[in-house]
Amino acid sequence: MEFAELFGSFGDVFGSTEGVRVFSAPGRVNLIGEHIDYCGGRVFPAALSLSNTVLARRNGTRKVRMYATDLKIKAEFDLDDIDAARSLRWGSYQAGVAKELAGAGVVLRGADMVFDSTLPFGSGLSSSASIELATGLALLSLADNFSEMRPKLDNVQLALIGQRAENRFCGVNCGIMDQFASAMGKAEHAILLDCATLEYEYVPLKLGDYSLVLANTHKKHTLGASKYNERRAEVEEGLKLMHRALPEKQFANLCDYSENDFTDAKRVLDTEPLIRMRVEHVIRENARVNKAAEALKTGDLARFGLILKEANDSIRYLYEVTGDELDAMFEEAQYFDYCLGSRMTGAGFGGCTVNIVPTALTQEFCAGLGKRYEARTGIKPEFYVCAVGDGARELSI
Ligand code: GLA
Repeated sequence: MEFAELFGSFGDVFGSTEGVRVFSAPGRVNLIGEHIDYCGGRVFPAALSLSNTVLARRNGTRKVRMYATDLKIKAEFDLDDIDAARSLRWGSYQAGVAKELAGAGVVLRGADMVFDSTLPFGSGLSSSASIELATGLALLSLADNFSEMRPKLDNVQLALIGQRAENRFCGVNCGIMDQFASAMGKAEHAILLDCATLEYEYVPLKLGDYSLVLANTHKKHTLGASKYNERRAEVEEGLKLMHRALPEKQFANLCDYSENDFTDAKRVLDTEPLIRMRVEHVIRENARVNKAAEALKTGDLARFGLILKEANDSIRYLYEVTGDELDAMFEEAQYFDYCLGSRMTGAGFGGCTVNIVPTALTQEFCAGLGKRYEARTGIKPEFYVCAVGDGARELSI
């Protein structure tokens, strides 16, 4: 929605627009480094210009009252009984963030908030992290002790608060990648993030005559209901096996092990073939991230694309989190020779693929791939040419 329309909507729901402030936080695309953030790996996401915009102001009560422009639903929770909001159909991410902020010492005020999302929900582009970050920044900015708390709660800390909200309040055992990208994104850059230390580096997205095209399978993934938490348990099992196989190396994270370590541990890993597959994905994917970042830094897009395809095979056959629709989207993209690389992005089980396509041919690609995908699955997909934007921030109005 345009700003004027959004303010109109706020006025309709909450009476007037006096004192309203505007906050925004983006979704993300992950270029490579999938399902390894929770194994202490390196990931390579970029923030999108697709985002959640939040209009917010204090309301003089102890309630946070919310309205979603896309779903057209209202929800509220009480700052003195945030736990009651666990059952909300929409609004529990916001409540979880409020609870974590309060736990960190933020003196929260009741607020009226309108949420406007340009991110497709449940499409693997981190709409939930974007809600968490926009909410976190808004509630913190409206808090009584904002000037005391903001230096302690910078955007990296807000990302951790968002992750904890999702882990503890919403029951999804996610890693830090999505919230970090939403908090710390930078226009025209990808973020090379070490999830074990939170050290990061911005890498210019030097794509030359190429663009990133997101292909939405329109197969919804529901993270909570998916096998996400099951995969996490499997890699914990994998870490124990690595400890047993290489007792001299008691590393804290699976991604601390090298590809050679994986080979050395093979005899023990072979006793648990399924766990071995998961471990192989994690260790090799972590190595691939470094290679992919190097290729991008040196402008070698062809190599970057090939590594992306390799990563897709790994997440598909070793980690098994793709599914028919993502597989169809990936396979049909191979028909277009000029597409340098393609892979699923995000948690999987539906959602999007990301594709490297000559900018001049994006329309042709979307139309052609759309037709092929629909003929094969019966589902109409959607495409977005990626614009890489900034992280969570207050917008001046
Ligand atoms: C989801 C999670 C992230 C990450 C990805 C897979 O998006 O929120 O933490 O694990 O899946 O890479």
